[in-house]
Amino acid sequence: MRRPLSSRRAALPWGERAREELTLARERLLALLAPVPAEELVHQHSKLMSPPVWDLAHVANYEEQWLVRALGGEAVGDTRLDALYDAFRNPRPGRSSLPLLGVEESLRYAARVRERTLALLERGPGPGAPERLLAGGFVYGMVAQHEQQHIETLLATLQLITRVPLAPPAGAGAAPPPPAHPVRGEVRVPGGPSTQGTDDAWAYDNERPAHTTTLNDFFIDRTPVTNADFAHFIEAGGYRDAALWTGPGWEHRLTAGLEHPAYWRHAPAGWQRRRFGQWEPLPEDEPVAHVCWYEAAAYARWVQKRLPTEAEWEKAARWTPAGTPRTFPWGEQPPGPAHANLWPRAGHPLAVGSFPAGASACGALGLVGDVWEWTDSDFQPYPGFDAFPYREYSEVFFGSGHKVLRGSSWAVAPLAARATFRNWDLPIRRQIFSGFRCARDA
Ligand code: AVJ
Ligand code: FE
Repeated sequence: MRRPLSSRRAALPWGERAREELTLARERLLALLAPVPAEELVHQHSKLMSPPVWDLAHVANYEEQWLVRALGGEAVGDTRLDALYDAFRNPRPGRSSLPLLGVEESLRYAARVRERTLALLERGPGPGAPERLLAGGFVYGMVAQHEQQHIETLLATLQLITRVPLAPPAGAGAAPPPPAHPVRGEVRVPGGPSTQGTDDAWAYDNERPAHTTTLNDFFIDRTPVTNADFAHFIEAGGYRDAALWTGPGWEHRLTAGLEHPAYWRHAPAGWQRRRFGQWEPLPEDEPVAHVCWYEAAAYARWVQKRLPTEAEWEKAARWTPAGTPRTFPWGEQPPGPAHANLWPRAGHPLAVGSFPAGASACGALGLVGDVWEWTDSDFQPYPGFDAFPYREYSEVFFGSGHKVLRGSSWAVAPLAARATFRNWDLPIRRQIFSGFRCARDA
């Protein structure tokens, strides 16, 4: 039997969190786009990325579908917008030739959707709303995380812009001082069973269910590989030695003409990197970023190591001697400024070892924040995987085509920075904020 609306509302213990996270994501999305000229928002800067205005209206349309219509609310826009802003019907290369909403129209659309979302959250879902979408507030977490994920996507797009000078985006919060002594080396992680995945109510389908994985002892680097480390690899001829690369990796290196990470150049005074349109000296102690999986794997072979498997990465991040898995490398506290470099913060990775309070139980640092870390693993479902609420979030990407990245970059919001979160991309991709650390068998 249906309870009256008022008691349904009282029965939503996650309602306040849902409202807060949606509001935070929107503030950040608008703050990110506000200083960007309208021409840059409608321009497609690369076939790999959408015109920014597509992301904006796509975020709004996703919310309309999942937090308004799926929960029994009335359509806000023209439902033909669903087709325009469906990522599957419209692959990225063609998005600039669609009859997209303009910047002002997209902003108005997003605001109207948000009004309905919040009204429905206040009033309680309609009678037909699927219980499973609402369990623990799942669908609200999904939509808030989706908006935050598109903020990261937008940052990767803005990083491509060279037509106009853009101020590098940065949020609140001072950078911590770099560590007094360089933190390097590796830690040994004991083998045996550990928990992989989670049953957390706001986790994505691909992180579920929590299950036991058994591993052998292994070593994992305490920190990600730095720019200085990677420059040594280049200078030692790493991009000239086919033996360090996988077959497809070497082929790609040749056809794409890879000589160094994306956004690097060699100047008379040394390496520089371009950050949001501005060239600056390469910061030696930051994790290397904008490398593809092939480059990461070649470096690992050069140091006679390998990339960690996804299961090893997760064990290094979550394992405790007592056996209780952690949600974050440092424990259960939500990410704070002392734990990790997440968005909104520096607008770039910070020196490795900058967050001693973010260490995991085995002593690894910087697992969350700074750069995504390529793993050796293909993106595959966990045993017992159940696609929810739609196959196109994860399931259609499973297989050997995509490699898993773990750990969140500086552009990830704390909301999506749990140590069970799985990201994936093609092994050739490097416009994303991707770095890596190495591992080896014990
Ligand atoms: C998890 C980053 C691979 O951007 O393709 C955004 C996230 N899914 N909208 C992507 C996503 C739907 C996804 N990644
Ligand atoms: Fe999306």
